[in-house]
Amino acid sequence: MSEAVRIAVLASGGGSNFQALVDRFQGPDSPEREVVGVIASREGAGVLDRARRAGVASAVSPPASTSDGAAIFLRRTLDEWRSDIVVLAGYMKLVPEAVVRAYRGRILNIHPALLPSFGGQGMYGARVHRAVIDAGVRITGATVHFVDEAYDRGPILCQWPVPVLAGDTPESVAARVLTVEHRILPAAVEALASGAVRLEADRRVRWVREWFETETFTNREG
Ligand code: GAR
Repeated sequence: MSEAVRIAVLASGGGSNFQALVDRFQGPDSPEREVVGVIASREGAGVLDRARRAGVASAVSPPASTSDGAAIFLRRTLDEWRSDIVVLAGYMKLVPEAVVRAYRGRILNIHPALLPSFGGQGMYGARVHRAVIDAGVRITGATVHFVDEAYDRGPILCQWPVPVLAGDTPESVAARVLTVEHRILPAAVEALASGAVRLEADRRVRWVREWFETETFTNREG
């Protein structure tokens, strides 16, 4: 039997997206995928409790004084875990360039809006949903994209829309978007793990096989 595809996660918060990955890939129904570890960007992040409960390895990045220090720690840990795919699931830091280079085409991020709108540095969590409401947009959503050297900029793999309703607050939009995130993130990871999608050298997303998990909006012609 071929070895399982090894999935590592980077997270900063409560880790509900990490949990969605564990629920989908950990266990006897999914022997070909394995969530091998989570790196939290800070001590006390809720994702660490979830990892403990799920029996998944965890590490906390030391408060690195230099970006080189952060890069070395991340590379070493991800390499030790023999990670095939790296998933940013609520990760609030910029991934160091050396890590992006090492994992290009194998590193994904989920963002709680329809990129390229409402992304970039400082746009995370409730701030995204506040900006969405303030702008008066009627449709927001969730995006999974390949990670490159800038915040929220890499090629988009899939998106799903979510309505913004009268009377919405950042919290109510966040909750509605989050349920969609929990669906499209595991779907996107499975697409990458199975080889249904890949990042081509020209930095385009190419769907190489018909993808049947069609509850996500994808650009299948690439
Ligand atoms: C999620 O909504 C995720 O999309 C967002 O943080 C939340 C983490 O929730 N990420 C960003 O804003 C990154 N720019 P979780 O810890 O429950 O998965």
